[in-house]
Amino acid sequence: MKSILFRTTLIAAAAALLSTAAFAQTGAKLKVGLMLPYTGTYASLGNAIENGFKLYLTEQGGKIGGREIEFVKVDDESDPSKATDNVNKLVKRDNVDVLIGTVHSGVAMAMAKVAKESGTILIVPNAGADAVTGAMCAPNIFRSSFSNWQPGYAMGEVMAKKGIKKVATITWKYAAGDETVRGFKEAFEKGGGTVVKELNLPFPNVEFQALLTDIAAAKPDAVFTFFAGGGAVKFVKDYAAAGLKKSIPLYGSGFLTDGTLDAQGADADGLFTALHYADGLDTPKDKSFRLAYAKAYKLQPDVYAVQGYDAAQILGIGLKAVNGDVSKKAEFAKAVEAAKIDSPRGAFSLSKAHNPVQDIYLRQVTGKENKLVGVASKALTDPARGCKM
Ligand code: PHB
Repeated sequence: MKSILFRTTLIAAAAALLSTAAFAQTGAKLKVGLMLPYTGTYASLGNAIENGFKLYLTEQGGKIGGREIEFVKVDDESDPSKATDNVNKLVKRDNVDVLIGTVHSGVAMAMAKVAKESGTILIVPNAGADAVTGAMCAPNIFRSSFSNWQPGYAMGEVMAKKGIKKVATITWKYAAGDETVRGFKEAFEKGGGTVVKELNLPFPNVEFQALLTDIAAAKPDAVFTFFAGGGAVKFVKDYAAAGLKKSIPLYGSGFLTDGTLDAQGADADGLFTALHYADGLDTPKDKSFRLAYAKAYKLQPDVYAVQGYDAAQILGIGLKAVNGDVSKKAEFAKAVEAAKIDSPRGAFSLSKAHNPVQDIYLRQVTGKENKLVGVASKALTDPARGCKM
């Protein structure tokens, strides 16, 4: 019995060795699990991330870090209740080498848990869940986007400096909304402001009327919000239709108006938001990225496209350092940690917890653009609370 077990273990070990060595000789493809929303309020965000990722792949001649890529795609529907099953399918059934995903913070936390347990490399191309590069941080988990705390904190500083005193907040009740508002409140209250009302509704509901009535009654100096995707389109339109836009200025983390301006039209005009990307950065890298993206997809890129592109860049940096062998996790991490990522948003590096250290821009909607106004917060570093790494 013992010897059978021993032999089986030996065979399994030899097979594993062969499979890691095999790609070098046979050019076996790297299996990338793309777990993104392709339906629901965040569907367009998932598509932009995939487009950005694939643009980098095309620029590299169809290979990342010397390896051809085979995609296994899952529509996560931005549904946390299905997230663990979805990510387990990718890791255990499809045996993906790398996980890329996702948009929704709740789904991303389930991905991070499985990645941490299985050791699979995970690159998060949007979801801001603070825990992913906080309490759940791990050597094999990276983020090409932001933490929820970052744009919230930057906007809190901006609004306090403007001399705004009383603010009402409104958002979806889940990690992204809660943490963005928490970051906002931290900076805004430090700067002398007060949050007088915190309003919420469940994700992805868009029945805003009763809450807009509450805002009108509270008469704050301004409103700060996190909404994104389809929900952001409806919120901006409803806010204007309720007649609030003229009387109570609306501010947001930049997702409120990113990838949404065609649908929001004039109702978004003039809004100030904070984000790690903007229109009009006017750098050579951004210009060439925008040109290439527009040519490939007949669309203007948004922040999500940039994050997808940079997720592919991060993968490329890590893979190059290990000659395409993802089992060399420590070397992969070391290379990514030392890198300056040449992003369209501006070059950035990753913090010790693997979250971008980046400028957060102040933008104002002008026509169909989130026009750069200035830098709201220079090289803003997420505090990575709870990360032990
Ligand atoms: C998130 O759930 O973390 C999230 C979703 C959409 C965004 C930004 C953050 O645009």
